Amino acid sequence: MVQSDTQRRSLHGQWSSRLTFILALSGSAVGLGNIWKFPYIAGVNGGGAFVLVYLVCVFVIGLPIMMSEILIGRRGRRNPIDTMRLLGEEEGGTKRWRVVGFLGVIASFLILSYYSVVAGWAVAYIFEGASGIFVDTDAVGVGEIFEELTGSWVTSGLWHTLFMVMTVFVVARGVKQGLERAVRILMPALIGLLLLLLGYSMIEGNFAEGVAFMFAPKFDELTSEGVLAALGHAFFTLSIGMGAVMAYGAYLPEETSIVATSFAVICIDTSIAILAGLVIFPIVFAYGLDPAEGPGLIFHSLPIAFGQLPGGTVIATVFFLLLTFAAWTSGIALMESPVAWLMESRGMGRPITAILIGTIIWAMGFLSILSFSALADFEFGWGTFFDNLDFLTSNIMLPLGGFAIAIFAGWIMCANSTSDELSMGVGRRYGMWRWFTRFVAPVAVMLVFLNAIGVI
Ligand code: TRP
Repeated sequence: MVQSDTQRRSLHGQWSSRLTFILALSGSAVGLGNIWKFPYIAGVNGGGAFVLVYLVCVFVIGLPIMMSEILIGRRGRRNPIDTMRLLGEEEGGTKRWRVVGFLGVIASFLILSYYSVVAGWAVAYIFEGASGIFVDTDAVGVGEIFEELTGSWVTSGLWHTLFMVMTVFVVARGVKQGLERAVRILMPALIGLLLLLLGYSMIEGNFAEGVAFMFAPKFDELTSEGVLAALGHAFFTLSIGMGAVMAYGAYLPEETSIVATSFAVICIDTSIAILAGLVIFPIVFAYGLDPAEGPGLIFHSLPIAFGQLPGGTVIATVFFLLLTFAAWTSGIALMESPVAWLMESRGMGRPITAILIGTIIWAMGFLSILSFSALADFEFGWGTFFDNLDFLTSNIMLPLGGFAIAIFAGWIMCANSTSDELSMGVGRRYGMWRWFTRFVAPVAVMLVFLNAIGVI
């Protein structure tokens, strides 16, 4: 017998409105992924063709999986582990699906541990930028500033600590007092700052070249690793494949449309990534910098340009403030599912749970911090600890998690349950979602995987 969610309630309350849910979920989606990672991996993978593959992944794989995660979350109304256990039992007669939730919670720990380190750099750069230190500093000087920060585990560690404290502070206050308030202020501010920067880059940057780099597809520069990176990034940027969206979905009021909200969130996230590229690449090209410089692109290359630009001090400050806001609302979302899980399973209070989880993640963060100093030469797998954490989570754990979620929503859950949550009846639109969830998304993920490991 399949229970309807009307009988279930989340321990943590509900989002106050559809708009707050959209803000919260886009707050989770829009983050370092859009502003730091997307431009640099697009740069490394040659631009246009990569962007195209990424867009296809977002709409063809990302959208159905995001809808699936929200509907699973709302139906279970618990943390991802218990939701998967509960629905697994109801719909599939086995508790084993909780493994998917469990891997998701592990991914939250791993991602936040390195995410917070980069976010800490962003916070540090607000102050660096405002101090005017980049003004008329040459490439070497800017490089030294970056190395001074990342090369010292103490300095980097302090900024990482500050970011973790900011994140714990919001999560400890709960869904209404913490999460909602934060996203209501930070998301509009973020969009305002981004538009300001866009206007600036149109005037001062080499806009035409930036646009061409992002949109003119050069397929010969796209490798199978590039395709895997585009897929992994689609998962990463949408925060899907790890139960984080499920956790937010658990607080979604009954009557809110999952289709409309997912679509809105995906459009917001994609637009912000593209706009961030349109801010960054024109400035990079105007100063003859290298778009393929890698993770240091916005901390290392961009400040060189800020130092030369008129009003560069203000623009640098605004840029890193934007980055910090974006990272903050994502950090909050990364913590929510582990916190909800511990609270629900152990009956612990929210503040203490947030502090406990925050402390564990904070300590794990030092592995990433040291990847830029003492452990910089210690490479294995895909590189340093930091590189491995990033590759393992984005390119392996999230796509596999998303694959499992699609299989669960498409094949294990009965059509009554899913169409009930999506409130679409069983018409054509529902049929489309189901077809994408059952076939297109899982097959696409598998193809990219097999291609990346060289099987096809
Ligand atoms: N989407 C975030 C970004 O683009 C990163 C992220 C991945 C995330 N998974 C998440 C954020 C889960 C919150 C929850 O920066």
